[in-house]
Amino acid sequence: MCGIIGILGKHDVAADLVDSLKRLEYRGYDSAGIATLDNGVLERRRAAGKLRNLENVLREQPLPGASGIGHTRWATHGKPTEDNAHPHATDRVALVHNGIIENFRELRAELADEGVRFESETDTEVVVRLVSRELERGHPPVRAVANVLPRLRGAFALGFLFAGEDDLLIGARHGAPLALGFGDGEMFLGSDALALAPFTDDLLYLDEGDYAVITRAGAEIYDAAGFQVARQRQRLAPGAFVADKGNYRHFMVKEIWEQPEVVGRTVAHYLDASANRFQFPELGAIDFANLQRLTICACGTAYLAGYVARYWFERLARLPVDIDVASEFRYREAPMTPGGLALFISQSGETADTLASLRYARSQGQSILSVVNVTTSTIARESDAVAPTFAGPEIGVASTKAFTCQLSVLLSLAVYAGRQRGVLSEAEEARIADLMMGLPGQFSEALKLEHDIEQMSRDLSRARDVLYLGRGPAFPLALEGALKLKEISYIHAEGYAAGELKHGPIALVDEDMPVIVIAPRDELMDKTVSNIQEVAARGGRIILIGDGDAVRQTGLDNVAALTMPDIDPVVAPIVYAAPIQLLAYHVAVFMGKDVDQPRNLAKSVTVE
Ligand code: F6R
Repeated sequence: MCGIIGILGKHDVAADLVDSLKRLEYRGYDSAGIATLDNGVLERRRAAGKLRNLENVLREQPLPGASGIGHTRWATHGKPTEDNAHPHATDRVALVHNGIIENFRELRAELADEGVRFESETDTEVVVRLVSRELERGHPPVRAVANVLPRLRGAFALGFLFAGEDDLLIGARHGAPLALGFGDGEMFLGSDALALAPFTDDLLYLDEGDYAVITRAGAEIYDAAGFQVARQRQRLAPGAFVADKGNYRHFMVKEIWEQPEVVGRTVAHYLDASANRFQFPELGAIDFANLQRLTICACGTAYLAGYVARYWFERLARLPVDIDVASEFRYREAPMTPGGLALFISQSGETADTLASLRYARSQGQSILSVVNVTTSTIARESDAVAPTFAGPEIGVASTKAFTCQLSVLLSLAVYAGRQRGVLSEAEEARIADLMMGLPGQFSEALKLEHDIEQMSRDLSRARDVLYLGRGPAFPLALEGALKLKEISYIHAEGYAAGELKHGPIALVDEDMPVIVIAPRDELMDKTVSNIQEVAARGGRIILIGDGDAVRQTGLDNVAALTMPDIDPVVAPIVYAAPIQLLAYHVAVFMGKDVDQPRNLAKSVTVE
């Protein structure tokens, strides 16, 4: 989603603004712009498309000025054109905005009735016009913003720069994250710590409803009621936010290859290796022993991690699980027995639907546990307990390492719950602990298939449609495989429970339809192999992801096989993520797609 940066600097800031925007590229965007104050006058440069277009504009028409704001826009209201790009401005105020102003139509109509003319189709411009009207009425900037904020509905983060006010930025947060950075005689405002990392490690996250009045000397924070408040500053660990592709061609493949390390790091956090036991001190008062039901809720890939985990919680902890995508759950009005536990999974911790579902669950008397990668995020802060993943910053829009780290936390949690509920023996816990300690090694083995996968991807890239099949925990993996392929290669793909094949999708199977079968060695493998025969009998092109046994059992010679190492079924979903991620990656690379920033997608979906 959109990215925001603001700087009150000591010298011209245009180059720093653009550099920061580059660090926010991972969020997804389709136009960009900056505004600065040049001798007190607001000037801006904007461009549709990628940041290099904005850089070209700036080369021809440089922007001097030591105070400025910048923006990468992911279009919601209005096409990704230069006119709709931020900053939006009048001669009095310029604004960058992340989120959606839901009541913009009525505000726009009100202003239009007064004769205000709009230059863009955006919801953002109404905020600029409203603040400008307050300034025209003689209010100073802080009052002007304070008067307008209560009129805005929706989820947003805002950054304002004012004509004639070289030492002032105002930031406001309502449902979308915003951080302040403290420098030496300089101040910064940004959508996340990554944007601010080159300038400072001294950060402050605004709370919900806060607005900040920022000068080079520091910042005053006010809450939604207008009272000045103190918010905790925090220091980031050195190097915590290094966004660097290293020797890799894309962030996505770098992140795929980081998985042995980050999965290992995540497992190590939850495993007392000396006792072979899982530990979750972060759970505090949350107790699985007498829990009647667990509700899991998330979006996209994080939801699919939850879907895999449902099998683990039900099997290993005998705990009934409800799971839903957050965009449905939040409006379902699901009755929830007070005292239950609701689990939210999110890489960013800012996904609007997941956050709204969390708030609904809280209103229903649930304890809230979240599995997040960004521990300073809103979802983390609104949870009773947080079990972090230790994936490090995930920059590729398609989630990879966050997914397998989520799975690692969730399996650890299911085992822990099983022990607390008295349904999993100490020996079984120790056995799974051993298996999880072996995950980095097994993951590295699986990644060695990359060359074979690359070869296969050429053929696959010619397909119009692809079917993914799996049973048990491999079913949500099939869904994840299809999601990964769709989002970065734009090939239509669907995931199906292998047993559902006969109930409809088998009608699609012909010589042109690749069918990717995920068949780890488990008690369902024989059944999946039967489904492979059914596909083969209809001339389908099969790609089998399974271990040597599965490949042998098919007895077919026209099966393209990715032969996985022998893996225990409990941990197989984590390791089997490797080939499906690599397959999607190489197909997209072969097709020349923008792997790290696929079209229309945003890294952090802060609007519904
Ligand atoms: C797919 C992908 C998305 C996210 C989803 C949730 O590769 O990345 O489906 O998983 O938007 O995002 P988070 O985990 O940040 O809540």
